[in-house]
Amino acid sequence: MNFSPADWREHFPLLEKFRAESPLHYLDNAATGQCCYAAMNAATAFETQSRANVLRGTYRLAERADAAYEHARHQVAAYLNAASADEIVFTSGTTASINLVAHAFGDMLQPGDEVVLSLVEHHSNFVPWQLLRERRGVILRLLPLAADGRLDLSRLDETFTPRCRLVAVTHASNVTGAVSDIAPLVEAARAVGARVLLDGAQAVQHGPVDVAALGIDFYAFSGHKAFGPTGVGVLWGRGKALAALPPFLGGGGMIEHVGVERTTYASPPRRFEAGTPPIAQAIGLGAALDWLREQPWAAMNAHTARLAQRLLDGLAVLPGLTFVGPHDLRERLPIVSFNFEGIHPHDACQVLDEFGVAVRGGHHCAQPLMDYFKVQGAVRASIAPYNDEADIDALLAGLKDAVRKLK
Ligand code: ALA
Repeated sequence: MNFSPADWREHFPLLEKFRAESPLHYLDNAATGQCCYAAMNAATAFETQSRANVLRGTYRLAERADAAYEHARHQVAAYLNAASADEIVFTSGTTASINLVAHAFGDMLQPGDEVVLSLVEHHSNFVPWQLLRERRGVILRLLPLAADGRLDLSRLDETFTPRCRLVAVTHASNVTGAVSDIAPLVEAARAVGARVLLDGAQAVQHGPVDVAALGIDFYAFSGHKAFGPTGVGVLWGRGKALAALPPFLGGGGMIEHVGVERTTYASPPRRFEAGTPPIAQAIGLGAALDWLREQPWAAMNAHTARLAQRLLDGLAVLPGLTFVGPHDLRERLPIVSFNFEGIHPHDACQVLDEFGVAVRGGHHCAQPLMDYFKVQGAVRASIAPYNDEADIDALLAGLKDAVRKLK
């Protein structure tokens, strides 16, 4: 199927607005994707036609709200190829989803039990486990990395011991774009009876995910990175894995019966949705994923890979550049991080802004990885299907200017 980035941009009001007013080369898609009309229209339809609290009211308006909210759960389930909509828990984002597992699953662990992580992890898949270590005395084991920052899975038997209870790794790095090789990790985890959690924050933006094929237990992601609203995210949990978890947050909506001495809890997903959920945002996210599911992903991913190659080729000839992460396109998302000798990433980003280029510079909430690479930070360009050659060329032109001005 043919794909045109210009046609795709028309689904994103902010990009349309900037095209009319001033140039914007938005290459910070790993931080947040732009929000599509499908998401905004669905959220607005809820707010203007069906707004009521969910899972509480018995009047017709509330029933419409319930139906819209539950429909969103089905749309998310379809995007992930989940076995049931009941496996979809709405949260406020990836961070909340991972913290939910770190508490609900983590608090069932015993001192000396082990959780396997890696140095590639975003802080949101690192710090919750450090906090768990402080609460429960669990041991954190780290998968080794290759020189380019990819996971080194050649010695898994040294990392996975019989005390391993969970492996929590990123599906794709927000710094290097490297996609983790999940199958060997799942096999190693299964061999010792451990669960597998993937941080899908970066991967969801690049096409539907098949949690069944991945063979994992938990998948966490945020709506705003998947071209949906902010303030909403998802924890997918395999039916039995989710059902085995105790509640994390207590409050309205997550109970079966509250007594003075004893309270019983609702089944998943409601057990994990205490309080009023982000209703409009969840409905917007469902609509975004429903729209995304129908997109020509093979053509779109070929397009973003071509742009990433154009960027890698353009960067390679610039003086003083070092890649932070791999500089080939094997098994990676179109996320490219780099540094120039003697130039602080923040300064480079400021010069780029003068060219209308929006990229992120800094440690990218991945300080253990920055320490591994022995850098303080990096400039990161992250490409989405609405980007085109003009965006990459503006970035390269801006970088040449930054090198000239700042060196
Ligand atoms: N996790 C987001 C990023 O990598 C915010 O920029």
